[in-house]
Amino acid sequence: MQEKLKALAEAARRDITVAGEPARVEELRVRFLGKKGELSQVLGSMGKLPPEERRSLGEVANRVKAEIESLLAAALERAEGAKLEAELRGPKLDVSLPGRGVRPGRRHPVSRTLEDVVRTFARLGFDVLHGPEIELDYFNFEALNLPKDHPARDMQDTFYVETASLGLAKVPGSPVLLRTHTSPVQVRAMLNQKPPLRIVVPGRVYRRDSDLTHTPMFHQVEGLLVDRDVTFAELKGTLDAFVKAFFGSSTRTRFRPSFFPFTEPSAEVDISCTQCGGKGCRVCKQTGWLEVLGSGMVHPNVFSASGYDPREVTGFAFGMGVERLAMLRHGIGDLRMMFENDVRFLEQF
Ligand code: PHE
Repeated sequence: MQEKLKALAEAARRDITVAGEPARVEELRVRFLGKKGELSQVLGSMGKLPPEERRSLGEVANRVKAEIESLLAAALERAEGAKLEAELRGPKLDVSLPGRGVRPGRRHPVSRTLEDVVRTFARLGFDVLHGPEIELDYFNFEALNLPKDHPARDMQDTFYVETASLGLAKVPGSPVLLRTHTSPVQVRAMLNQKPPLRIVVPGRVYRRDSDLTHTPMFHQVEGLLVDRDVTFAELKGTLDAFVKAFFGSSTRTRFRPSFFPFTEPSAEVDISCTQCGGKGCRVCKQTGWLEVLGSGMVHPNVFSASGYDPREVTGFAFGMGVERLAMLRHGIGDLRMMFENDVRFLEQF
């Protein structure tokens, strides 16, 4: 029986040390140490032996059992390590696959155009100023010579803000609204600083308008220059210089008489068509001209409402729509594309 145990230990050493997979180790555990395994079989016949022999045989059997157990534990650890190693190296992880590149974003055409306009005026010496999008009726209309019931208000219907439910301090007699143009910042600027003044004001504006060429939100850049003896000639020269810098030096300008309550006289500024150069095409509706901005000499009533003395200073103001400028510059046919966030469109700029 001693011989049998020796042979068993021998076989166990030989087979267990070469077991390569966890499943194979388990197989060997059942074979040697299982209930009906080889060790049990040897010990099964021990009952027939005399007691002293049984005792020494028991010692040997326990040693063999302990050795097999530790062989199995070592083999299992080895096999599991090898399995993990193989998984990490295996074909499921293709380290030769190119990585996913970072796709850098880019400025929206409206943002870029707005920055270009502002930069062009900054070169002419204008400071950049911002004002609130949620504005008082007083600054948006009243102080700009547009009193209640003035018919020109109809062209700039807007969205009103429920002041009571927001717990905002109620300004007596002045509803709160989303500004319809950047012109209220003219008044805010003049109330805040003494002349001379030279500012541009970029920002969002809102109107109750929505069709092919109008969106309820769009962007404007306002301009205001105030000093002693400012004339209409300077208005023309400044805007002509801007147009040439922005659209190209061969672009011509045309000033058409117009009306704004806050400027007098007022002029609409047209530029020679960016598409056909003035010959007449679909973009300019065969006229050769495109309307790009509103302008005029600051109305004395606006100076008075802003704390400036209209007998001492004069000035000019202008306002332009940024989306329109961007569309003309890039030949974009549909205003709504600006706000659809379609990357196929945005990627082109
Ligand atoms: N605020 C005018 C508009 O939105 C544009 C404008 C600005 C006209 C300044 C004259 C002077 O239509």
